[in-house]
Amino acid sequence: MNVLAVPDSAERMSSVSSGNALELRGVTKMFGALAAISDITLTVGSGERRAVLGSNGAGKTTLFNCVTGDFFPTSGTIRLFGEDVSNFPAYERIRRGLRRTYQISLLFGGLSVNDNVYLACRGASRGRFSLVRTRHNDALRVRVAELIEAVNLTEVSDALVSELSYGQQRQLEIALALAGAPRLILFDEPAAGLSPTERAELINILTSLPSHIGYVIIEHDMDVALRVAESVTMMHNGRVFKEGTPEEIENDPEVQALYLGHGEDGGHA
Ligand SMILES: Nc1ncnc2c1ncn2[C@@H]1O[C@H](COP(=O)(O)OP(=O)(O)O)[C@@H](O)[C@H]1O
Ligand SMILES: [Mg+2]
Repeated sequence: MNVLAVPDSAERMSSVSSGNALELRGVTKMFGALAAISDITLTVGSGERRAVLGSNGAGKTTLFNCVTGDFFPTSGTIRLFGEDVSNFPAYERIRRGLRRTYQISLLFGGLSVNDNVYLACRGASRGRFSLVRTRHNDALRVRVAELIEAVNLTEVSDALVSELSYGQQRQLEIALALAGAPRLILFDEPAAGLSPTERAELINILTSLPSHIGYVIIEHDMDVALRVAESVTMMHNGRVFKEGTPEEIENDPEVQALYLGHGEDGGHA
């Protein structure tokens, strides 16, 4: 899986790195009179794997949208690898190694697994691959194959996306997020709707990612969070309610009263 190593451009970018992948200070996002998130202060270290828990409407997806630049926060600052990106558009954050997956699938259903990953890799590396097309095209094909292998889809690499199971489609979305040189990936409920077998596969893929790739994963299922994250941020009503290790959060009486006791409505948006 050496193809997932940090390429040159990301090494250059990391010269502006502090030790942290992500630092939010007092981030608030208003929708009219509604504060979807309020005064969020949060630090995720480089390579750290963090789960964000919280019931429906807690503000988890809005938090992601502010980090990616899909939304600009109403107030507060966001630093990515030490750099203040609060006013940067989404593509500038992507250039710095940020990726995300969405709750809603954005795959090209009429294309094969191979073609989807190929397009994502071309899009992520246009400058590097456009000049000497044949030679770099071979390198690109190798990279595509390795990304597909990293998400355990090699056996179906020629299948159309529309022929894949739901779980396989989610795996493919992870491959797309791995295109380019990601250093921090935001996963929005990747386990939602997966069967127990597919969940186990997802856990295996996430825990097998190279250690320089950190992630923040929105996850309702505490069992999944326990396995894929080393730290947990629990959100409630747009605020950070608790932070700790998965075990601390799971055993916290306030968390249990607030969240685990309401597992049924901690469902999916
Ligand atoms: N684009 C939007 N416009 C207006 N309100 C929004 C928008 N996105 C989210 N909200 C509101 O912000 C709150 C937090 O939503 P969201 O971040 O989607 O929560 P979660 O992902 O934790 O379920 C909810 O009350 C939701 O209705
Ligand atoms: Mg959401």
